[in-house]
Amino acid sequence: MALASVELTERTGSELRVDKAALLSGEFVQDIRSLLVQRGVLIVRDIHFTDEEQRAFARSLGDLRLGTVKQEGDEGLLKVTFDEKVNPEYAKFFFGSQLWHMDGTYEEVPPFATILTPRVLSETGGQTEFANNYAAYEDLPEAERTQLDRLKVIHTMQAALFPGKPDCTVEEFALWHSYPNREHPLVWQHRSGRKSLVLSTSASHITGMHPAESRYLLQRLMVHAAQPRYVYRHNWRMGDLLIWDNTGTMHRVLPFPPESGRQLHRFTLNGEEGVTAVG
Ligand SMILES: [Fe+2]
Repeated sequence: MALASVELTERTGSELRVDKAALLSGEFVQDIRSLLVQRGVLIVRDIHFTDEEQRAFARSLGDLRLGTVKQEGDEGLLKVTFDEKVNPEYAKFFFGSQLWHMDGTYEEVPPFATILTPRVLSETGGQTEFANNYAAYEDLPEAERTQLDRLKVIHTMQAALFPGKPDCTVEEFALWHSYPNREHPLVWQHRSGRKSLVLSTSASHITGMHPAESRYLLQRLMVHAAQPRYVYRHNWRMGDLLIWDNTGTMHRVLPFPPESGRQLHRFTLNGEEGVTAVG
C-alpha cells in the first residue's frame, strides 16, 4: 500500500493519511523519511499517541536522542512548556522559541528531526510555524547563491536569546555567553545533493565580514526566508502528530498565555550528517 499524503502549502508541509497501527508497524519508515526531507514538516491528525507509542515511532525513524535535559526514566522525552514545575531547565530558555530558529546550531551535527504531540493546548495562540530553508535558498538568484555558498556563520546562544529577552539580567546574559559558539557554512550541501540555508536567530555574524554588512545580510536573508510562501503554520488539535526536518527548516512558536499550561511532548532524532559546505 502506498502512503497517502496531501500538500498543506505549495512549498512546505504535508498531511499524511495513515492510521496509528500503520505508523507503528514500520511499514512506511522510508516513505516518511523521504517525504519529510522533501516537505520539511509532516502532520497526522487524530493519532493520540501515548508517550511509549511516540517513542517507539521516533525510534523507528532514526537514532533517538536521549538528551541532556531529561528526568529519570524519560528516555528521550522532553516536555515542552513554560511551566518551571514541569521542566525547570527547559522553561528558562523557552522564550527563545518564539524567534525563528533551527535547533542545535551550537552542535557539530545538528539534530535531524523532531516528533511532537500536544498534551495541553492554549485556547489562543501557540501555533507552531515552519519555514522551508531549501526553498528559500533555491529561489535566490544564481549569482547570489554562488556568493552565499562561500560564507561561514558563527552561531551563539546570546544571539539566539537576547532578541527575545532584551531586559535580561547580567547573570542571564553571562550564562548564555558561557555556552560554546559554533561556526557553520551559511549554505548546507546535504548528502542528498540539495542545498539549504543554515539560518537561525542564533546566527551572530559572518566570519571575516564587516559587522554592519554581516548584520544587514543575515537580517535580509531572514526576511526573505520567513516570507509566507515558505511558511506552514500549524494550528494544533489534540491527537496530532507532527514531525519536522530540523536540517532544512526553521521553526518558531507564536505567543500564547503562559498560564494556559500549554505542553507538548517531544522526541528528537540525532543528526546523521554534519553541516557540509558546498564543494
Ligand atoms: Fe526549537
